[in-house]
Amino acid sequence: MTGDAASQAARATPFDALPRTELPAWQALAAHAHGLRGTTLRDLFQADADRGTRLTAEACGLYFDYAKQRLTDETKQLLVQLARSSGVAERAEAMFRGERINVTERRAVLHVALRAPKSHKIFFDGHDVVPDVHAVLEAMAVCAEHVREGRWLGHTGKPIRAVVNIGIGGSDLGPVMACQALRHVSERSLTLRFVSNVDGTDFSEAVSDLNPEETLFIVSSKTFTTQETMANAGSARAWVLKVFGDEAAIARHFVAVSTNADAVAAFGIDTANMFGFWDWVGGRYSMDSAIGLSTMIAIGPEAFGELLAGFHAMDEHFRSAPFEENLPVLMGLLAVWNTTFLGSRTIAVLPYDQYLARFPAYLQQLTMESCGKRVTLAGDAIDPGTAGGYTTGPIYWGEPGTNGQHSFYQLIHQGTEVIPCDFIAFAKSLNPLGRHHDLLMANVFAQAEALAFGKSAEELVAEGCADWLIPHRTFPGNRPSSTILAEQLTPRLLGSLVALYEHAVFVQGAIWNINCFDQWGVELGKQLAGRIVPELESQDAPALSHDSSTNALIRRYRLMRG
Ligand code: F6P
Repeated sequence: MTGDAASQAARATPFDALPRTELPAWQALAAHAHGLRGTTLRDLFQADADRGTRLTAEACGLYFDYAKQRLTDETKQLLVQLARSSGVAERAEAMFRGERINVTERRAVLHVALRAPKSHKIFFDGHDVVPDVHAVLEAMAVCAEHVREGRWLGHTGKPIRAVVNIGIGGSDLGPVMACQALRHVSERSLTLRFVSNVDGTDFSEAVSDLNPEETLFIVSSKTFTTQETMANAGSARAWVLKVFGDEAAIARHFVAVSTNADAVAAFGIDTANMFGFWDWVGGRYSMDSAIGLSTMIAIGPEAFGELLAGFHAMDEHFRSAPFEENLPVLMGLLAVWNTTFLGSRTIAVLPYDQYLARFPAYLQQLTMESCGKRVTLAGDAIDPGTAGGYTTGPIYWGEPGTNGQHSFYQLIHQGTEVIPCDFIAFAKSLNPLGRHHDLLMANVFAQAEALAFGKSAEELVAEGCADWLIPHRTFPGNRPSSTILAEQLTPRLLGSLVALYEHAVFVQGAIWNINCFDQWGVELGKQLAGRIVPELESQDAPALSHDSSTNALIRRYRLMRG
């Protein structure tokens, strides 16, 4: 064993070595899934009057109804056994204890510390990180209040009125989602913009109507090396300097959020205006770190505190509730059940709340960068085609209801793919308007009902449907969904909702025995782009040594751009 392998083995939990397909619960579930094939949701509901209230769980203001999933009490029991024998609880404890469970990057995974109250202690390498977290939160609050109250002045003495967050991936998607979700509690006199794409259109459009004298850029990048972010930050710098012609303006118009103080200083941003975080915060788990500065500026430190409290409440629930009533455990198990045992390839997330329009996009990084893995923690292949292999990370996607109903729901109802859905809805509208909210809610309930029970040929005949139309108008039903119902979309509720998905991903990762916290898959494309950039920028036609397709595309691009 090499030194590296030995130290990894020493860190691993005893569960990492267990081939999942050999676990009795795994094998029982595979047989059970086979046995359930002929049973429909209609059958299950007809046989069991309590199903609709029994197969539910509730925590942190979220009511989770999974009665319309294709499962029985036995399925649930077996899934819980699978979670136990995969070491979900032990792995979660290792995370909360600050162990380096991200073994390939040798990092701890401590996003739970970002929302721990001051009174808590969470240790990493013998050091309590909670005071560090609160020190950064306090510094963020000072900055946020200055901007919100018009006390942060630009280079010409005008108060800042527009904030532009420059970042990508985890340094963008969380703040974008949260700022939109919490717009109803945000400071409306401030303009919030987000620039992520290296496509110059993103930056140009974002600043086109902004006054540089009143604009503050937040350069958000954990590494401060990401190509897209650095390119956009460079353009922002040039945009500011073009107006003021004075380097001193940078300090008044730029702050940074990063773990890399040297690179921040090299960029020209005063490190006094840098808000730090730590390498134990993964990009896609960072919206409640300093990466949330734009969110805090928008909603204020108090509401941001509420958001963190919501996250923390779900952390506590995840850590302490029995698996049978544990929302993240149940949600994670359902994803494993649908994906690995029932063969679904995607999960649709369908928020019936316009404020959550970017929630599916946010979840895509959280879920797919985490669970898009094809080897176990020990490095063994688990492609479904290999011995002992199985399917991991499903594709997450979605759009807010009711718009999706007039677009892709057709395929969910009558296509050949079975797509489990997560419906998310709120009892109280934040913008009550006539009948609108009841109409919205009627639709969410109706969709879940229609998916589960469909419409049979007999029912169509009874309605007088012409024979030839019956196959077209039949809905097979038996399409699974869960419904998450909460009272109202508050900052606290949003925190709990995001933490629910974070921990559900953790559960999936533990069961699939994969590392949910690295993302090597994004590296190759970055490296190749780095190689191609000089080939595009060079004045002479460079010798190209890619494959013939890439060579031809590069040549054609050079020719077409003139
Ligand atoms: O694309 C990979 C990734 O590393 C994400 O995981 C991360 O959220 C994003 O890039 C941005 O990274 P950074 O914050 O370092 O700019």
